[in-house]
Amino acid sequence: MKKFLLPLLICPACLPEEQELDCVIESEQEDDILDGTLACTGCGATYPIRRGLAFLDPAQTVDGIPQNRYESPAVVSSYLWSHFGDLLGDENASDAYLRWAALMQPCQGPCLDIGGAVGRFAFEMAAKCGPTIGLDNSVSFIRTARQLMKNRGLVFDLAVEGKISRRVSLALPSNWPTQNLEFVVADALALPFKSHTFSAVASLNLVDKVPLPKKQLEEGNRVAKLKDAQFLVSDPFSWSVDVAREEDWLGGSEKGPLAGRGHENVEALLNGGKNSLQPAWKTRDKGQIWWKIRTHENHYELIRSCFVKAAR
Ligand SMILES: C[S@@+](CC[C@H](N)C(=O)[O-])C[C@H]1O[C@@H](n2cnc3c(N)ncnc32)[C@H](O)[C@@H]1O
Repeated sequence: MKKFLLPLLICPACLPEEQELDCVIESEQEDDILDGTLACTGCGATYPIRRGLAFLDPAQTVDGIPQNRYESPAVVSSYLWSHFGDLLGDENASDAYLRWAALMQPCQGPCLDIGGAVGRFAFEMAAKCGPTIGLDNSVSFIRTARQLMKNRGLVFDLAVEGKISRRVSLALPSNWPTQNLEFVVADALALPFKSHTFSAVASLNLVDKVPLPKKQLEEGNRVAKLKDAQFLVSDPFSWSVDVAREEDWLGGSEKGPLAGRGHENVEALLNGGKNSLQPAWKTRDKGQIWWKIRTHENHYELIRSCFVKAAR
């Protein structure tokens, strides 16, 4: 974990109290802490850093939770294609991450990509805006993103059909910075960061994947600066009771305070008013971006992600 994160961190287990973390470094390489421990000055909870990977989600184990679908090699490969297919020269590649990145104004950072998987949006933000952190609670995703960042490339197997796969080699463009970029394992519902820290916050295709969708937006809002900040929320709003109780959905229901459509309710939550995020955000842009995931050579999922880009 790069040292630029240290002054930004707090203990996620103590929230809403914001307790600092002390860091004991066992081994390091330039600005990168390879092994060490972050310890809460309040509750005493400890968070390991192992081979450069910081585990800031109290619920996560160093190997990840096996039943989490986002830990499987097939899904990691699928997301690598979804995020970096253009760098592989694939004519079917998605341009979604370039479109989301284009919605962000250049700024000094720091930036945060919540639930960022294997990291494409974070790489884009580091190139455009300065210090950037990508976080996810999938250990496999974060380990992969970090490997790509450290080695500036990655070789992985892409599914062709059934058990047949082909090995592909991904290389980062030489002008992408990585010294101002880091990826950590953390929970979107208990962000390990001080309030009012980030100039740009993104939550892409995440809000329908957490048990408490409103809490996810509240956490993004908490860590965003009070002014001169940007917030990008984009989602297909694929609500499911397997993930969140219907009363906690931000749309897709015919009754309750958040009945109706997810994109409208997210915009209303951002824009102020009763029970909404404070200080209020103003919509700068909204629309939809087609996003693609590849399962194998003959099977793709095409997803309409509805975005609201807001600023305050
Ligand atoms: C549908 S994927 C979207 C990934 C990425 N934002 C994108 O648009 O390509 C949802 C992501 O959210 C992550 N995720 C789900 N629940 C999370 C949580 N509680 N905290 C952090 N990440 C979470 C998953 O591991 C996965 O990477």
